[in-house]
Amino acid sequence: MFTKPASEPLNYQTGFGNQFSSEAVPGALPAGQNSPQRHPLGLYAEQFSGTAFTVPRAEARRSWLYRIKPSAAHPQFKRLERQITGLEQGPVTPNRLRWNAFDIPAEPTDFIDGLIALASTSAADQAEGVSIYVYTANQSMQRAFFNADGEWLLVPQQGCLRLVTELGLLDIEPQQIAVIPRGLKFSVQLLDGTARGYLCENHGCALRLPDLGPIGSNGLANPRDFQVPVACFENTEQPTVLVQKFLGELWAAQLEHSPFDVVAWHGNNVPYKYDLRRFNTIGTVSYDHPDPSIFTVLTSPGATHGQANIDFVIFPPRWMVAENTFRPPWFHRNLMNEFMGLIDGAYDAKAEGFMPGGVSLHNCMSAHGPDNATAEKAIAADLAPHKIEQTMAFMFETGKVLRPSRHALHCPQLQGDYDACWNGIARTFKPLDTDNQR
Ligand SMILES: [Fe+2]
Repeated sequence: MFTKPASEPLNYQTGFGNQFSSEAVPGALPAGQNSPQRHPLGLYAEQFSGTAFTVPRAEARRSWLYRIKPSAAHPQFKRLERQITGLEQGPVTPNRLRWNAFDIPAEPTDFIDGLIALASTSAADQAEGVSIYVYTANQSMQRAFFNADGEWLLVPQQGCLRLVTELGLLDIEPQQIAVIPRGLKFSVQLLDGTARGYLCENHGCALRLPDLGPIGSNGLANPRDFQVPVACFENTEQPTVLVQKFLGELWAAQLEHSPFDVVAWHGNNVPYKYDLRRFNTIGTVSYDHPDPSIFTVLTSPGATHGQANIDFVIFPPRWMVAENTFRPPWFHRNLMNEFMGLIDGAYDAKAEGFMPGGVSLHNCMSAHGPDNATAEKAIAADLAPHKIEQTMAFMFETGKVLRPSRHALHCPQLQGDYDACWNGIARTFKPLDTDNQR
């Protein structure tokens, strides 16, 4: 499967939501129409849609693929014996939860076998909600895969990945992300031998850039920094196993050809990558700090106006200059449900216990915030301008409660003493006048 050397930099197209087009062989992209009677090079035209045909034009996502064999050329899928770890839902708990990083397995494990389901808001047959996984792997996939249950947002934490997709190749490294549309066939190659990271499966509306409102026409993740592959294909009749995830379960069929046989394509239903270090971070230059929604990279709107199905939010390196302000993330109780991960360094709300590769989950109305050590330090700090460096935390924030899997609640990575980080917080209340106390 695709042996292009990893040292050879890939070419990309740029932009977000564009009508892209690319052909690996001149003349492979039909001019002026999508579906000619006879393709000039003998390719088959195939539409790949990510939205219903009739959604408003601004929402519509579809691409046209020109390929050697149509995707329809496959035998029956058979349910695989080995399924994704952690699909069984655990008992509901209102408790705050935190996990240590998940180890790279010792036994041969590819990206699909290395998926661990941690939490989900809804079953995959719902047209909204999210499911969240971590992945660990030590082998490149020797098979192809597609996910019928939603688009995938990949957040690598360790190890570079080459995503071989129907529309071309994407290389991503930690501090970069990739989004793979629902149904797009792809394979994950490990460029560093091992890999670990996070995965958000979005069952709802496709991710898009957030509106900017009073921020204006620039800022946060800028559209020109998103990268999309160029057409790249295999012309082989090498049998290939194609796995799909359908309503949470894995099914496989053996193809008599490579599924990565798309010679040209055009459209806007595409995989893309983004470097989080390009994020234009905006914060206060006076006092207090804005809600973390100011750090939204991508959003999937929910049914309630303004309440996201999923927001992907990052906490990147940034200057802290607020005067007379408690600078860490404040203590809070929120409507939204927060799944956090740490890609690199340390997170500014936790002095210890939240390590790169780790996970925390704070569901609706669970009280949380900086741990005691961080809060005490912040209250005592001399507030000079200060840059938080070497950090990259993120949050998948969703309007629905994230129900942890049974595996997540019983695995050894679950920290039994997370609540202790708020134990014994000092009483610092010093009333000036005791007359009005009960
Ligand atoms: Fe929070």
